[in-house]
Amino acid sequence: MTVLQIITYPDERLKQESEPVRDFDDSLRAFIADLDETMHAGPGGVGIAAPQVGHFRRIVIVDVSGRKNTPNHGHLVLINPDITEWEGMKAGREGCMSVPDFTGKVIRAERIHLKAQDENGEWHEYDMEGFEARAVQHEVDHLNGMLFLDRLVSRRHDLFKRKVYQDKSK
Ligand code: NI
Repeated sequence: MTVLQIITYPDERLKQESEPVRDFDDSLRAFIADLDETMHAGPGGVGIAAPQVGHFRRIVIVDVSGRKNTPNHGHLVLINPDITEWEGMKAGREGCMSVPDFTGKVIRAERIHLKAQDENGEWHEYDMEGFEARAVQHEVDHLNGMLFLDRLVSRRHDLFKRKVYQDKSK
């Protein structure tokens, strides 16, 4: 397995829309293994989308199972994900491997219903809430060429430099 290089903001490729996956073959599964390795190599490591490594296919991985008191479905490979229902709205802090120097306060649906295929092409449906639902919404945005930066209500009030927070904790 290989750790792939992450494309970072303001690289224009992050605005590209990704294409559906149609072939569920060994090369797809090999790519997913590399994508997973890349997610775990980064800080945070709760989610990654294929376009972040320059592979413009509708593939994301989300795994929030390492967070305390967070309802979750474990390690999820979501292919051609489709959010079909949104409920509630809540502001919360997000980071992104493609925006390493900042976090931002973003409003997302609190609960979602999601359909997605797995690495064998089988469809699954999920009801998600809280941080897991947030992570999925963030990763699906990547497939549509959007970053959390595009969803900030105000850059002045809702964008935070990571360095500032690290300095405060010293
Ligand atoms: Ni991201």
